[in-house]
Amino acid sequence: MGPIWDTLYGNSTKVQAIQADLDLNKMTTITDTKPYVARSTINHKLSVAPMLDWTDKHSRYFYRLMTQHTVLYTEMVTTGAILRGKGDYLSYNDAEHPLVLQLGGSDVKAMTECAKIAEQYGYDEININVGCPSDRVQNGRFGACLMAEPSLVAECVNQMQSATNIPVTVKSRIGIDDLDSYEFLHTFIEEVSKADCRHFIIHARKAWLTGLSPKQNRDVPPLDYDRVYQIKNDFKDLEISINGGIKTFSEANEHLQHIDGVMIGREVYNSPYMLADADNEIYQSSSAKLSRSEVIDLMVPYIDETIASGGRAWHILRHMLGLCNGLSGARKFRQHLSECAGKDGASGQVLLDAFNKVTLP
Ligand SMILES: Cc1cc2nc3c(=O)[nH]c(=O)nc-3n(C[C@H](O)[C@H](O)[C@H](O)COP(=O)(O)O)c2cc1C
Repeated sequence: MGPIWDTLYGNSTKVQAIQADLDLNKMTTITDTKPYVARSTINHKLSVAPMLDWTDKHSRYFYRLMTQHTVLYTEMVTTGAILRGKGDYLSYNDAEHPLVLQLGGSDVKAMTECAKIAEQYGYDEININVGCPSDRVQNGRFGACLMAEPSLVAECVNQMQSATNIPVTVKSRIGIDDLDSYEFLHTFIEEVSKADCRHFIIHARKAWLTGLSPKQNRDVPPLDYDRVYQIKNDFKDLEISINGGIKTFSEANEHLQHIDGVMIGREVYNSPYMLADADNEIYQSSSAKLSRSEVIDLMVPYIDETIASGGRAWHILRHMLGLCNGLSGARKFRQHLSECAGKDGASGQVLLDAFNKVTLP
């Protein structure tokens, strides 16, 4: 674990000491000649779902301040972006581990090349997106439509794992369109697990590849948790995580009676401070829980450093709108951030000013 966690959850609880330990410029980039260091196996009991435009490196940094153990996923990054894109889509802050790169693609050579690059960057695992239903993704022959091509997914996993030393996992749905029988899902898991994929995250809702937008397809058709439990029952040696519609850690702990891991997406994004309870409630760790005020004290220098290196306050603060949900003044907090964080010259001070509008219990 990095120095941030030694300090946060070690002997010292002083925010000033934490700040001294935060190496805000220590971003991992492809130019780092960082040798791969084998990491201990990730504990997948809880993870924050990959969410395009939402789980970027800024929100992940913010989440990591609140939870040491929860596994974080990048947004989906396509092989095309990595191999041909102009930006550096893979950089992250070392504090973010345990961290999984989610890849979108299905060209075996490109996927393998990207897996090697991801390993050089120091990602702990790579996850293949077999769950996104969008038209654009289907046109590129990846995402949920790959559920109909288990041998291609297996070939990707096989080649990617042969070329690297990090695990390759798959995030899928329970089915697509009319291919929604239990047998269909069973065959998919069986074929891909033969390529030695040991961890599947299953969004317990089938994907409609036509007629629904990806947004609509996150709420309909209904969730079927039993189907995911059945997979765990039939593949006891595999690690199976469940995803979809989970809102609280007591719900998560219920699922964990049947399953190995729980992945939460929208609820974390909308109410991120729930993560401050994750280590205690899910991982039964006795580490100190950070107050909102401590989280803010740690985010202010991060925001200012990001601005100093060319970023904007809004890039970070847009992910923090829900931090004070449930407190008196939460609406004013959100309003202040929305109105002020995008202005020229906005800095970490905007966050402090917004927090002054909240009444702590
Ligand atoms: C804004 C947004 C973007 C998403 N982007 C991705 C993505 O890049 N890759 C992926 O596998 N799933 C993506 N998803 C789906 C989530 O990972 C998750 O499966 C879904 O939201 C259901 O979980 P939840 O009910 O806990 O939110 C996205 C969801 C949202 C809300």
